Amino acid sequence: MTSTVRTQVAIVGAGPAGLILSHLLAQSGIESVILDRRSREEIESTIRAGILEQDTVDLLASIPGSRAHTVGSRHDGIELRFDGVGHRIDFAGLVSRSVWLYPQHEALKDLLAARLAAGQDIRFRATAHAVEDIDSERPRIVARDDAGAELDVEADFVVGADGSRSVVRSALSGSHAGYFREYPFGWFGILTEAPPSADELIYSNSPDGFALISQRSETVQRMYFQCDPHMDADSMNDQQIWETLDRRVPGVELKKGPIFQKGVVPFRSFVARDLQRGRIAIVGDAAHTVPPTGAKGMNLAVADVVVLARALEALLGRSDSGPIDSFADEARKRIWKAQHFSWWMTSMLHQIPDASEYDRLRQLGELRSVVDSEHGRAYLAEAYTGWPMDLGAAIGSAAPASSAADLLTRRAS
Ligand code: DHB
Repeated sequence: MTSTVRTQVAIVGAGPAGLILSHLLAQSGIESVILDRRSREEIESTIRAGILEQDTVDLLASIPGSRAHTVGSRHDGIELRFDGVGHRIDFAGLVSRSVWLYPQHEALKDLLAARLAAGQDIRFRATAHAVEDIDSERPRIVARDDAGAELDVEADFVVGADGSRSVVRSALSGSHAGYFREYPFGWFGILTEAPPSADELIYSNSPDGFALISQRSETVQRMYFQCDPHMDADSMNDQQIWETLDRRVPGVELKKGPIFQKGVVPFRSFVARDLQRGRIAIVGDAAHTVPPTGAKGMNLAVADVVVLARALEALLGRSDSGPIDSFADEARKRIWKAQHFSWWMTSMLHQIPDASEYDRLRQLGELRSVVDSEHGRAYLAEAYTGWPMDLGAAIGSAAPASSAADLLTRRAS
């Protein structure tokens, strides 16, 4: 027995991209159905990055029930550390923008609660296998529901927000059609029960390799260090991990505590060749992957759906196909800027295996070019806090202020 569901937009993936897209579409009166092969609990407990660009947090904070501004914390700068010295990049002073530290799984809890409260149809543990009739006006997702029964979702438009192993991308252009880059290292990430070691994030280039000191709360901290991408996280005990981190952030006294979560993240850059065809599009990790340095992954997914939501409103609301025809070109501009920024931060901060002494000294010259120049620091600040997304109607006039400059303006008025 196959059950068939009909909707306007079928979305595969209940991650940030799929959930925010359903919210934006609902605001325009467009209904959608979301399928995700994971359970709600799995989605809410996947540990990912924690930095939200200013426009990402403004959009999230405009969704009822968001805790981004209460549980999250505003960061007006970061520290770049090399040669044993820290250099502050003052986002607020340089570009009047900020970022917010709010873990992705917390944002997902908010989004799932908000969408379910609004009556969104989300099918958990429903696995999409294929997309059929892809060149027709009614593409169809072929799936199995949580009980293993066949489920077809027929729609006016299908969106793949289904991550790096996207089924929708395979249907669109074959799973590997795109542009790749591999890196000979990854990150070893930990969560530790300890107070913060610094007020702001520290990105540290050391002769021993890169480390990032990030945070989660007053009592839980997130830290990463460059490692072999194939290493087993269980091969290092707590003492070895702390020794490694101490060597990588010379001059900073790290506050230590029990390590209760650890794992290795591989590094990859990828951009799919095709982002849209007829009535199918892909967004977020289904469309591109970045190495985590600079935390662009989720922010780029949000930027994709802001552009796609507007295109779908035009197509389905006004039968105007202009915006969907230019969706891929529009999205690609930001995607390649973020690809460059993530690659640049990665290559500038990590030790590249087999690098010569020349390469190493040039890298320090590059870091010094950035921190010694107001323009260099401003470029980094602009890219890190995020290029404007043109949120417009997406957040309405009730959007809370999230940047230092906004808050100052508010206080003054
Ligand atoms: C975090 C992750 C990142 O990739 C980054 O650049 C900054 C912070 C984090 O998980 O806290």
